[in-house]
Amino acid sequence: MNLMLFGAPGAGKGTQAKFLIEKYNIPQISTGDILRAAIADKTEMGMEAKKFMDAGQLVPDSTIIGIIKDRLAEDDCKKGFILDGFPRTLPQAEALKELMENMGITLDKVISLNVPDSDIVERITGRRTSKVTGKIYHIKFNPPVDEKEEDLVQRADDTEETVTKRLAAYHEQTAPLIDFYKNMGVMVELDGTKEVSEVTKDMIEALA
Ligand code: AP5
Ligand code: ZN
Repeated sequence: MNLMLFGAPGAGKGTQAKFLIEKYNIPQISTGDILRAAIADKTEMGMEAKKFMDAGQLVPDSTIIGIIKDRLAEDDCKKGFILDGFPRTLPQAEALKELMENMGITLDKVISLNVPDSDIVERITGRRTSKVTGKIYHIKFNPPVDEKEEDLVQRADDTEETVTKRLAAYHEQTAPLIDFYKNMGVMVELDGTKEVSEVTKDMIEALA
């Protein structure tokens, strides 16, 4: 199954991807995670991307398309994959279409998690990630049982100031893709404001 999770920053893409990985035994491809790993490794690409990410802007298409091209060519993607946070611009969507055509594969579904902007700031500023397990938490909506054991960290771009810019980038550059995927007949829109487990249920139903 070749899937895409779509939605604004903080819509719950990473959270829901974890359930799909287990259910379908396919890898999650998060361009955000790949970029953060490159930053942690202090690679040239990572250092260049960091400037855009800290400013709440999108990383240039050429960098992102290169990342995806390499990642989709890896063996574990043969059984399917979950795209998370890619594509985010029309050129990225067109590049993906061409790449998948060349690979002889198709996109089964695009799941859009719809969450209004008014909910996003609280979700983003309250997000914490475990350094130990990589799990995504929220200080209010989804706190860990043992905070110390999880060694929680906050993402560098999860400030109130940056969120506003990320949301603006989403509306200007990414939201137009909704029509692109509607026209392809693969778009499913879900209410992302429900509880995590409810959203998972709706998503699994949509994929059945
Ligand atoms: P990326 O890492 O992709 O960030 P994002 O798209 O902004 O999305 P997030 O990871 O912030 O949110 P999410 O939807 O995964 O939500 P989560 O599940 O964590 O990208 C970061 C940056 O990298 C970009 O700004 C850009 O610079 C660059 N980049 C990445 N990809 C790019 C691309 N393709 N092109 C160009 N640049 C790119 O949940 C958020 C919080 O809400 C958590 O605390 C969670 O616990 C909570 N939560 C989740 N679901 C619920 C729920 N149902 N109810 C209550 N709380 C919930
Ligand atoms: Zn994410």
